[in-house]
Amino acid sequence: MRMKVALIPGDGIGPDIVAEAVKVMGAVGTKYGHKFDYSFYLAGGVAIDSVGMPLPESTLLGCQDSEAVLLGAVGGPKWDHLGGDQRPEKALLGLRSGLGLFCNLRPALLYEQLAEACPLKSELIAGGLDIMVVRELTGGIYFGERGRNDAGDSAYDTMAYATIEIDRIVRKAFDIASKRSKRLMSVDKANILETSRLWRSVVNTIAKEYPDVSVDHMYVDNAAMQLVRNPRQFDVIVTENMFGDILSDEASMITGSIGMLPSASLRSDDFGMYEPIHGSAPDIAGKDMANPIATILSVAMMLRHTFACEEEAAAIESAVGAVLDAGWRTGDIMSKGMRQIGTKEMGTLIAQKL
Ligand code: IPM
Ligand code: MG
Repeated sequence: MRMKVALIPGDGIGPDIVAEAVKVMGAVGTKYGHKFDYSFYLAGGVAIDSVGMPLPESTLLGCQDSEAVLLGAVGGPKWDHLGGDQRPEKALLGLRSGLGLFCNLRPALLYEQLAEACPLKSELIAGGLDIMVVRELTGGIYFGERGRNDAGDSAYDTMAYATIEIDRIVRKAFDIASKRSKRLMSVDKANILETSRLWRSVVNTIAKEYPDVSVDHMYVDNAAMQLVRNPRQFDVIVTENMFGDILSDEASMITGSIGMLPSASLRSDDFGMYEPIHGSAPDIAGKDMANPIATILSVAMMLRHTFACEEEAAAIESAVGAVLDAGWRTGDIMSKGMRQIGTKEMGTLIAQKL
């Protein structure tokens, strides 16, 4: 199979970790007879530095012309002084909306080998943690109207949702739940927000089409608390854009594996953008210290969701497991008795395991 992949290394450790993902794709290609056609594109701070804007038109066009996008990370202190529309983060928002990626999957998985990094008491995680956060990604307060009054002493951001935007993400979540434990938790703030009341009614309507999935509703403040009180009550969580931003950070932290977790941003066809959930970690950029596993696991998600190559995806995931089992660790997941290695060696070991 030929696979056309746009690569956006971005800022900070982005280039370090994307290079290792490419190494692993090479091994997948050799083993299963696939050919990856790569094109590199600029986005984020590097794009600001070289062409004066975070998301050049050529990047968006190049991504549109590919089957999938693999992104490292964007942002860093160097560009923190820039105003709203010029910031590196704007590239992410532009890619999400420009490519129509309304469905963001953020698996929060506790790796047994790293269980001691979990900040929760061990009895709370006995039996493991495996939560899928399904976040709406192109609507809500991120994309609503915003502004300031003339005096500049009053500002507003608007949260708006149309039924169709809720419908398509909620359906994705039901589909995912029906393939997992058949439990779906919809998170909102329906005691306050009108968008949440609309959200809730759409969820209840769609629920009738999925009689085998049991659905519950939870207010977002309670969900934030329940995630640390009893995380094992959750399997699939579906929620709007900003609630999903916040809860997915929390869910990833309680697994203790923040340097390990991939993500997928999808639309209704097979196209997707894949990236680690962590940031650009500028302090360790270029030092062969970053953990490339989240990006390598993002390649697994790409193979699964865009290219329907389940076997290849599972092979990457088990190669990662095998390297962890053998005791190899990058600095961020290092613990006593394990063997510390750098970014490149981690990528090489995983590629070799394949
Ligand atoms: C994320 C990030 C982004 C978001 C930022 C960098 C725009 O926090 O992907 O979760 O808020 O969506
Ligand atoms: Mg976030």
